[in-house]
Amino acid sequence: MIIKSSDYAISAVREDQYPQDNLPEIALAGRSNVGKSSLINSLLNRKNLARTSSQPGKTQTLNFYIVNQAFYLVDVPGYGYARVSKSQRAKFGEMIQDYLETRANLKGLIILVDARHEPTKDDIAMYNYAQYLNLPLLLVCTKIDKVKKNQVNKALANLNKTLDLSNENVTVLTYSSVKRLHVKELGDWIEQHLQ
Ligand code: GTP
Ligand code: MG
Repeated sequence: MIIKSSDYAISAVREDQYPQDNLPEIALAGRSNVGKSSLINSLLNRKNLARTSSQPGKTQTLNFYIVNQAFYLVDVPGYGYARVSKSQRAKFGEMIQDYLETRANLKGLIILVDARHEPTKDDIAMYNYAQYLNLPLLLVCTKIDKVKKNQVNKALANLNKTLDLSNENVTVLTYSSVKRLHVKELGDWIEQHLQ
C-alpha cells in the first residue's frame, strides 16, 4: 500500500460521532502501552499523528485517522489499564464493544501483543472475543526489536500455546515500529481487507 495522505479525522465515544462517509475501517486493539499509536505512526510514516506516550492509558476515545481519503484506521483505547477506575473501565469496555459489534464499516481488526511477554489474561480475552466477532484478524507481535533474534521463534511458539492461531481468519505478523520491521506487510494486509 502506498500512503498518499493521512490525517486525524475525529474522536468518538458513541455511534452518532463516528464518521458518516461510509468508508471502510480497520481497528487496532491491544493492551495499553503495547504500541498501537506507534504502529499507526510507523505505517503512515508520521512522527506524531497518533499520540504516543510512555504513560499508559493516553488514548481514551476511539480515534479515527483517514488514510488516502479511502479508509479509516481506528485507534481503540488500550485495555487492562489499572489506573482508571472500575466504572471508567466498564465505560471503555462498553464503548469498544458497541463499536466492534455493530459497526458495519469495520472490515478487519488488528490486535497487538507485546513480543517480549506471554499474552496476558486481557490479551487472551481480547483475542478470544475477536474470534467471536468473526472479523479478519491480524495478530501483531510488536516491539520485536526488543527480542533477541534467536528468541523470536520461541516468542511465537509461546503465542501459539496460549492463543488458538489455527483459525483461517487469523494472520500473525512480527513487527517493530521503532525499526520499521514489516511495515509493508502490515500495509498489504490492510489493503487486502478493505473490500
Ligand atoms: P495507549 O494509547 O495507552 O493504549 O498505548 P499505545 O498502545 O498507543 O502505545 P504507544 O504507541 O503510545 O507506545 C507505548 C510505548 O511503547 C512508547 O514509549 C513507545 O515508544 C513504545 N513502543 C511502541 N512501539 C514500539 C516498538 O515497536 N519497539 C519499541 N522498542 N518500543 C515501542
Ligand atoms: Mg495510544
